[in-house]
Amino acid sequence: MPAAPAPVATPVPAQPFSDAERATVYRAIAERRDMRHFSGGVVDEAVLARLLHAAHLAPSVGFMQPWRFIRIRSAERRRAIHALVEQERVHTARALGEREDTFMRLKVEGVLDCAELLAVVLPPGREAHVFGRRTLPEMDVASAACAIQNLWLAARAEGLGMGWVSLFDPDALAALLALPEGSRPVALLCLGPVPGFYAQPMLAELGWAQRQPLHALCMDEGWQPTPASVGDPSAPPAHE
Ligand SMILES: Cc1cc2nc3c(=O)[nH]c(=O)nc-3n(C[C@H](O)[C@H](O)[C@H](O)COP(=O)(O)O)c2cc1C
Repeated sequence: MPAAPAPVATPVPAQPFSDAERATVYRAIAERRDMRHFSGGVVDEAVLARLLHAAHLAPSVGFMQPWRFIRIRSAERRRAIHALVEQERVHTARALGEREDTFMRLKVEGVLDCAELLAVVLPPGREAHVFGRRTLPEMDVASAACAIQNLWLAARAEGLGMGWVSLFDPDALAALLALPEGSRPVALLCLGPVPGFYAQPMLAELGWAQRQPLHALCMDEGWQPTPASVGDPSAPPAHE
């Protein structure tokens, strides 16, 4: 019997972006910042819905959509989460050796100050999704990161700041949020009004690390050695 023809999705003619629309996309990308300084306030429910919708439009491996967003409303739970983050901040500082003190002086989260706190969690049962993950199971996290980036960019366009906090023990956070066996928290998102956006990544402004020159990160055909300064956070600031 002849094989059935492969199903095809029909592309429709694309509506081009105007120059202004294109510029807006690049502006949101360039001016998105990881924010740790918040000014309290609230996030309008309609805006929050738009942001979550933007997140949900992200690409995902095998279209598995492995993102679950948990909104933390209770002040008590927020304080408990902050305590976990603080614990991990101290462990991280110790693990940094000679940069311990410098790290401890950095603000690395805005959990108690942001208007909204969201946890992003990978759901249980991910092993059933094999498409694109047989050799690279971590593509579930990569997909969730795409959703978070959508949310981040949309938040910037809405004039809201967002900070991604990954300083926590995932098992402890899972217990705190009563997550089911097999799920995994990957992010705490601090979201809300901010006094302003850092002009540059805060870690660059404070000299923790500098943006690497793009040309040193692009290679032709195969791996090529990079200059010794690339990847060295103490190297002088780079200019693209
Ligand atoms: C996966 C991921 C986890 C991160 N975790 C933290 C964190 O725990 N604390 C923090 O201060 N920043 C965190 N960041 C933010 C980075 O420090 C920030 O993206 C980087 O310094 C560049 O700054 P920018 O996002 O403003 O361009 C995280 C970013 C990513 C992508």
